[in-house]
Amino acid sequence: MPTAGPSQNSRHVRRVKISAIGCYVPPKTLTNADLEKIVDTKEEWIVARTGIRTRHIADDEVATSDMSVEAAKRVLEQRGLEGSDIDTVIVCTVTPDMMFPSTACLVQDRLGAKGAWGFDLIAACSGTLYGLTTGAQMIASGAQERVLVIGADTMSRIVDYQDRATCVLFGDGAGAILLEPSEDPQLGLLDYINEIDGSGGDWLCMPAGGSRRPASPETVEKRMHYVQQDGRQVFKYAVRKMADVCVQLIERNGFTPEDVDYLLLHQANGRIISAVASKLGMPADKAVNVIGEFGNTTGATLPLAAQKVLDNGQLKKGDLVVMCAVGAGLTAGASLWRWAY
Ligand code: UT7
Repeated sequence: MPTAGPSQNSRHVRRVKISAIGCYVPPKTLTNADLEKIVDTKEEWIVARTGIRTRHIADDEVATSDMSVEAAKRVLEQRGLEGSDIDTVIVCTVTPDMMFPSTACLVQDRLGAKGAWGFDLIAACSGTLYGLTTGAQMIASGAQERVLVIGADTMSRIVDYQDRATCVLFGDGAGAILLEPSEDPQLGLLDYINEIDGSGGDWLCMPAGGSRRPASPETVEKRMHYVQQDGRQVFKYAVRKMADVCVQLIERNGFTPEDVDYLLLHQANGRIISAVASKLGMPADKAVNVIGEFGNTTGATLPLAAQKVLDNGQLKKGDLVVMCAVGAGLTAGASLWRWAY
């Protein structure tokens, strides 16, 4: 198996692996037929333009921390660990239970992760990717042993169900990923690229609710506490940027797209997923696609995609995997893994 490029040596003192993934989606679903009754849309349009057939939606009393705890418990169970075995909890979300305390604190308490530290990370759809590379640095440096990275979003709370161009896209869910030191130096995180470009911030945002435009009757009336996006711009940027960072990452580590076993892309639109695979010259079935069942769950898309190929036995130890995402900010990145379990 080819080894990774030189960048691994300077960046990673200890190799870091993903040792478990656990996901949770709420049982209630919102189908395209349901959406036809809410906005002026058609099942055929949604399937043809996005690939989405249904999404999971949290009940009113369920918040991001609740789904995060469920996902985290599945990870702890897989590894036979207690909450107190976790050193760091990073919750990657744009829908925290509240602005503060952080959702990480709420999750830490409910998991009984006594002595852990943690924080919320806001990078929208790239959040979990950034959480993984952030957590990996803590382990690589020798500072921590177990970092729990949770990508979770209750998008249904910030989606405008009067805006047909956005409400069909999003769903709710959570995924927890455990990072630990890798005993085998060949397995784990090989390299990554992350970059942000604030010049495209207006293309995808929630304009009010922060210090610039605090909540007021006017912001509520103007529906400024919901996701607003220029879908076409985001679509074009996503395809171009995801393909760019994937190629850069694959090539600088001495691989070709043919060497990659699975492409785990942020799940925003089925057409984005297939366009990126095609730009890389990869067969469509190497680009994992779970958008039909979950829609865009923002922080949870990467773990949900990984879970699918783990559960059906496709993703195996030693496989070369590229994770890649683009999101509001704009945020983008990709990471290269030799799968460790
Ligand atoms: O994680 C990042 C989050 N966001 C994204 O990744 C979004 C990326 N963008 C997209 O996925 C696509 O741009 C959309 C799915 C949002 C829109 O698809 P599109 O093919 O780019 O459609 P469009 O915006 O070019 O609109 C084409 C037509 C418009 O009608 P007119 O102006 O041509 O008459 C829209 O009003 O489709 C209309 N349209 C719809 N029609 C039926 C937009 N949404 C809907 C809908 N049902 N739900």
